[in-house]
Amino acid sequence: MSQIIALTLKNLKKIGIEHEIPNITEENAEFLKNLISERNPQHMLEIGTANGYSALHFSLALSESSDLVTIEQAWNMHTFAVENFKNCKVKNITAIWWDAKKILPKLRMEYFDLIYIDAMKKEYLEYFLASLTIATAYAVFIIDDVEKFRDKMEDFYEWLHDNQIPYKIEKTDIDDSIMIIERKDVVLWDKFS
Ligand SMILES: C[S@@+](CC[C@H](N)C(=O)[O-])C[C@H]1O[C@@H](n2cnc3c(N)ncnc32)[C@H](O)[C@@H]1O
Repeated sequence: MSQIIALTLKNLKKIGIEHEIPNITEENAEFLKNLISERNPQHMLEIGTANGYSALHFSLALSESSDLVTIEQAWNMHTFAVENFKNCKVKNITAIWWDAKKILPKLRMEYFDLIYIDAMKKEYLEYFLASLTIATAYAVFIIDDVEKFRDKMEDFYEWLHDNQIPYKIEKTDIDDSIMIIERKDVVLWDKFS
């Protein structure tokens, strides 16, 4: 890791604590980086950039030919994240300032092979459904904070249950857990009835 990225990550973590920005924990970042290295996605998508802390971590695990698109709806967060990516001279991150619910349907179909969801908990079902068409057939969805904020995403859990979609929950740190869903397991029978 370059010194500037290491320093920026350290600084962002400090700013995150001071300003109560819910950045991923270091344990979670390490877990996700290992998962990225294993899956080696060509095109990764993050929903919820905040100050760019997680995106910077992810960029370190992506291969040289891979890229990350990250979406943030708060202008101040987006501009701060962009400044951080520029300062770190990271070239494989594209930051989009927009409401994810509105921009997701406009993104390229069957393009992203790893989709990380970490934005407004009560909107998880909307992000997930809007991401299905832009995911490749073998994409993986990583959905953050699924235990601590379960009450805010009951509609998402219900939808998974009603559609019999299998998922795995990994305890990545003492704080919370992530959910892993394989796109190939998302079979929506009612589409064909
Ligand atoms: C938990 S924070 C993201 C933390 C970041 N992934 C990290 O670990 O460094 C969630 C972010 O999602 C953003 N957000 C909330 N609703 C959104 C939406 N509909 N579209 C895009 N971003 C959204 C919030 O402004 C906030 O900055």
